[in-house]
Amino acid sequence: MNMSSRAISPHTPIGVIGAGAMGAGIAQVAAAAGHAVHLLDARDGAAAQAIAGIQAQFEKMSAKGKMSAEAAQAASQRLHTAVSVSELADTGLVVEAIVENLEVKRDLFRQLETVCNASCIFATNTSSISVTSIAAGLNNPARLVGMHFFNPAPLMALVEIISGLATDASLAGVLFDTAKAWGKTPVFAKSTPGFIVNRVARPFYAEGLRLLQEGAADSATLDAIMRELGGFRMGPFELMDMIGHDVNFAVTQSVWRAFYNDPRFLPSLIQQELVEASYLGKKTKRGFYNYAEGASAPVAHTEAAVACPKSITVYGESHTATALAKRLTTAGVTVQRARTHEGRLAQADGVSIFETDGRTATLRAQATGVSQLVLCDVALNPDSATRMAISVAQQADASALQAATGLFQAAGYAVSCLRDVPGLAVMRTVAMLANEAADAVNQSVCDAQGADTAMRLGVNYPRGPLAWADDIGAPNIHTVLKHLGEFYGEDRYRVSPLIQQSVYAGRTLHV
Ligand SMILES: NC(=O)c1ccc[n+]([C@@H]2O[C@H](COP(=O)([O-])OP(=O)(O)OC[C@H]3O[C@@H](n4cnc5c(N)ncnc54)[C@H](O)[C@@H]3O)[C@@H](O)[C@H]2O)c1
Repeated sequence: MNMSSRAISPHTPIGVIGAGAMGAGIAQVAAAAGHAVHLLDARDGAAAQAIAGIQAQFEKMSAKGKMSAEAAQAASQRLHTAVSVSELADTGLVVEAIVENLEVKRDLFRQLETVCNASCIFATNTSSISVTSIAAGLNNPARLVGMHFFNPAPLMALVEIISGLATDASLAGVLFDTAKAWGKTPVFAKSTPGFIVNRVARPFYAEGLRLLQEGAADSATLDAIMRELGGFRMGPFELMDMIGHDVNFAVTQSVWRAFYNDPRFLPSLIQQELVEASYLGKKTKRGFYNYAEGASAPVAHTEAAVACPKSITVYGESHTATALAKRLTTAGVTVQRARTHEGRLAQADGVSIFETDGRTATLRAQATGVSQLVLCDVALNPDSATRMAISVAQQADASALQAATGLFQAAGYAVSCLRDVPGLAVMRTVAMLANEAADAVNQSVCDAQGADTAMRLGVNYPRGPLAWADDIGAPNIHTVLKHLGEFYGEDRYRVSPLIQQSVYAGRTLHV
């Protein structure tokens, strides 16, 4: 261990209260890291049952060679049940993972305060309750820190270390180093609604739901775009189905209410209706998709194969342009290269293809006087993306869709044509994720690195939103957001002050 680490010594026993999904996972992590763990649950037998489950996990890990047999046995022996808080008197840390209820949590910490040593640190694993509020019930609120693990705790690397208003910063530092010593990647956050992950992730669901509501495409097509072009492990609809719409809708509502109904976080009527119908997702076998036995798998809408355009020019040296030209050339297609043509990415049989800048294709055609105009979305990786989303100006004729489809198909993309919505799917989502991450940084909830790390490790995003925005170009993200705001006239798309200032200063976002 790093000598300068402030981590709690593995010789110090710790308490975990609540032996449900999270408490059991946290107890497993702490025991594996060398601590004696005292697990307490209000429900009779729950702690013993959880310990048996953890011990079975250790045995499995040892059978798979992920842990030596001796280590597994030693870790198993470090787990103990406790039946009352008084048994936690000698612990150096108590992590609470009980029911998500402010009064119940406050009561528990008040009891702990009467029995634990003054040096014992109190941690709450709450997802949505203010750490400041929980701590306010204590005589010494400085000793309470948020230690927010992600589910399943033994597998998910991220831990948000959350300071309430009264939290002693040095104790937050101790838990930061302790989480590291436990093999986790901690990030500091301030106690604000949703902390980092549950706040910054909102637009991933919200923009998907807006796109669906506006008829951009069906859920299967939008999911495929987010996976195959955006590089996300799951699209928003399959992910919401997995999380459960009751849970996801409740988090959205709680963040929205906590921010005094800020339209950024406005819940979706589509999701509300799913909850009303008890279409809660996988667990009820019905959500956006049908999981009943024999139900057919969702299929993304993909344009039928068309001929490759006869003449293709690709403009500029951007990563997107270079990758497109290379993919076409590799496929044996003759491509003209030119430096620039009024911002076009490409021209195919007289049809102009631009990357989205947050305006609709129709508005862009009107603004530029180019009626044969098609927009394309942004790829996480233009070299390897397998699907492209496009939209066609209403002024264009049928040959525009055909030429753009033929171009991208020749470059090896499946093509999905969206209704002409502003910002398409990936660009719009990434711009809004970056906007939210930027606001969290701007409001000192976390730093830029913390925001990106949290999103990569807490929800498995393929890239942190701020680093991703830098890659697309902060000025481009600024333009996309500005155009979305102008188009919808909604405060929801207001540009974060941090993005504005970074653009004016010529700075990157993920400093
Ligand atoms: N499930 C998740 O994905 C997740 C992720 C991060 C954080 N959290 C947070 O972790 C906490 C626990 O969530 P969970 O999913 O493990 O819940 P859970 O329902 O699986 O487990 C909660 C356990 O706490 C016990 N309990 C309730 N009140 C108690 C009390 N007063 N004293 C002792 N034990 C008590 C219950 O008997 C139950 O076993 C909540 O605050 C939740 O917001 C949950």
